[in-house]
Amino acid sequence: GLPDRVDVYEVGARDGLQAEEALVPTTEKIAFVRALRASGLPMVEATSFVSPRWVPQLADAAEVMAALDDRDRHPVLVPNMRGLERACAAGARAIAVFVSATETFSRRNLAMGREAALDAAREVVGAARAEGLVVRGYVSMCFGDPWEGPVDVAAVSGVSQALVDAGCGQVSLGDTIGVGTVGHVRELIDAHARAGIGTDLLAMHFHDTYGQALANVHASLQAGVTCFDASAAGIGGCPFAGSATGNLATEDLLWMLHGLGIETGVDLDAVLAAGARMTGLLGRPAPSRVAQALG
Ligand code: HMG
Ligand code: MG
Repeated sequence: GLPDRVDVYEVGARDGLQAEEALVPTTEKIAFVRALRASGLPMVEATSFVSPRWVPQLADAAEVMAALDDRDRHPVLVPNMRGLERACAAGARAIAVFVSATETFSRRNLAMGREAALDAAREVVGAARAEGLVVRGYVSMCFGDPWEGPVDVAAVSGVSQALVDAGCGQVSLGDTIGVGTVGHVRELIDAHARAGIGTDLLAMHFHDTYGQALANVHASLQAGVTCFDASAAGIGGCPFAGSATGNLATEDLLWMLHGLGIETGVDLDAVLAAGARMTGLLGRPAPSRVAQALG
């Protein structure tokens, strides 16, 4: 059977905005994060403490954090020890490290090979745990990589295992370019089970590039996963993975979960309003089909 309750982990303010070239005013980012949290979303990723030269949109990370309460509910991305220092100085209480299942994307996204990036992540996770922070680990390119093609499920579970061993409390499996399909999702979750990583440790992070995200969520639910990443209005993508479009839209995910009678604690109308304000600012229609239908 399906779970009774699911946690929706909101990434709109981070994954959603990181590829946007036109700078969104800091006050609007703060309002966006607050509105999403007020909608009932249990976790609302707020920003990234990455190099501002790599991601100029999120150069105001410290100002965004300064305006937020509830900081254990607002994880931030951290790529290295410099990022951890900045995040801690800004008052972060929850962080996320990120590594790639593939070598090429690791070099393009982090300027480090896969093993070097894992070593860097281990150091960050250890230091963060010593400070009492909540730590999530992302694995990117879990299904396919634009340069390397299909990705072996055992390669992914090996990386996840390294993150869990390092001290990550949760691993989010990223379909960065949205190529995954239902059978592949089942195989990936099975490979994790064989590696001793149960669904209680997993989140699934689908981008909807090929329109497979909701089907993939349903397959993950059937396999026992109870945490899903999504972005309000479906905005986003990774600037270092050319073919990536937005994440699965939070509104679309909520529509399906609520339709299945699965509790989320989230008010869909409040997410719609927050997403509409942001897409209005970005000057584009929402990719979310539910937002289009109800807008
Ligand atoms: P690098 O250029 O090799 O960095 O980049 P470096 O260590 O050589 O340092 C160069 C300069 O950057 C120095 O400054 C450092 O101080 C500074 P300078 O002395 O030249 O003035 N620097 C920093 N400044 C602020 N904060 C920092 C920081 N680190 C160095 N943390 C680096 C290496 C890791 C920094 C870079 O590659 C980077 O920032 N990458 C992040 C890219 C990114 O944000 N990608 C998107 C997020 S991942 C994603 O979207 C996938 C996900 O959604 C899941 C999925 O969909 O799969 C999570
Ligand atoms: Mg992503």
